[in-house]
Amino acid sequence: MTETAIHIAGFRKEYPAARRKEMRLAVNNLDLDVPAGGLFGFLGPNGAGKTTTIKMLLGFIPATLGDASLFGVPVEDPAARRAVGYLPEQPYFHKFLTAQEVVAAHVGFAGAHGRAAKEQTEALLRRVGAYDYRTLRLSKCSKGMVQRVGLATALAGDPKLLIMDEPSSGLDPIGRKELRALLQELKDEGKTLFISSHLLSEMESLCDRVAVLHQGELVACGTPGEITRGDDEIAVLLDGLDETESLAREIATLGGSLARQPETRGIRLVAPAAALYRVMGLLEQRKARVISVSQRHETLEDAFLRLVGSTGH
Ligand SMILES: Nc1ncnc2c1ncn2[C@@H]1O[C@H](COP(=O)(O)OP(=O)(O)OP(=O)(O)O)[C@@H](O)[C@H]1O
Ligand SMILES: [Mg+2]
Repeated sequence: MTETAIHIAGFRKEYPAARRKEMRLAVNNLDLDVPAGGLFGFLGPNGAGKTTTIKMLLGFIPATLGDASLFGVPVEDPAARRAVGYLPEQPYFHKFLTAQEVVAAHVGFAGAHGRAAKEQTEALLRRVGAYDYRTLRLSKCSKGMVQRVGLATALAGDPKLLIMDEPSSGLDPIGRKELRALLQELKDEGKTLFISSHLLSEMESLCDRVAVLHQGELVACGTPGEITRGDDEIAVLLDGLDETESLAREIATLGGSLARQPETRGIRLVAPAAALYRVMGLLEQRKARVISVSQRHETLEDAFLRLVGSTGH
C-alpha cells in the first residue's frame, strides 16, 4: 500500500470579515489525501483557499474545523514538520543578509555543522542558480533572485516532503525551465512535492495528481488524465460540399456533427476519434475534399477553465 504523505479530513477555515460578526469562509469541507512520492498540483484561482490550506497544513494558523497529518503525524505536533521543506508564497528574509548567509542558516537549522554544512550550502546555492550572487545582500537582489534563495532554504536538510506555494513566482522563462528540471529531479529522487501553481500548461507534464479548489471547495481531484475530458475528438475541415444533409445524418449516427463555417465557406466536421476511419470512408464515397484533420484533447488548462469558469470568481 502506498504511504500517505498528506492527509486532510474536513478542513474548514473561517476568517473574520471586515464587518463585525460576519465570517469569510476561505476553505470548506476539504478532504484530501496526497500519496508519498511524485508531484501533486494544488490548483485554483486567486482566493480559492490554497495558501490558507497550506498554512493550516503547516500548523501556522489553526483550522476552524478538521484535522490533518503529515506522514501520519498530526500537524499540531511540531515533529510533523521535521520532514518538510516549505517555500512560502512570498519568501521574506532579512535584507542585510546575503544569499549565502540565509541558506547557511537554514542548513544549520536542519542540523548540519562544520564542513558538511558548508558543502551543503554551496551545493544548494548552485542547485537553484544563486551561487553567482551568493555574497550580495538580499536588499540588492531582484524578486526572482530572492525566490531562488527561498527555494534553496526549502531544500535545506533534504526533506522528503516539499510544500511550495507558487514556486515559479517571479522567475523568468529560463528560471521557470530550470525550476521544472529541478522539480523533475526531486521527483526522481522519490520526494513528495505538493505545489500550488497557476502555470497549468507548465505543470501539466510534471503533475502525477492534481486537486482543483474553487471558492474554498474541492471541485476535482485525480490524475491529469482523469480530470481532463478523455473522449478525444477529431476535427475535419472540408471544402464546400453541395449537399450535406445525408452526410450530417450519417456523421450523427457516429456521434459527430457538421457545421458550416461562413468565414471559410468550408465545413467543420467533429467526431469521436474512434470513428476516424469510418468518417474518412464516408468522405471518400462523396469525394469530399479534406483540407485538414486534427485531433483535440482537453488540456489541464481547458479543464481548469471548465471547472472554475473563466473568471474564477
Ligand atoms: N488573514 C486573512 N484574513 C482574512 N481573510 C483572509 C486572510 N487570508 C486569506 N483570506 C481570504 O481567504 C480566501 C482565500 O485566500 P488564499 O490566500 O488562501 O487564496 P489562494 O488560493 O492562495 O489565492 P492566490 O492564488 O491568489 O494566492 C480569500 O477570500 C482571502 O481574501
Ligand atoms: Mg495563495
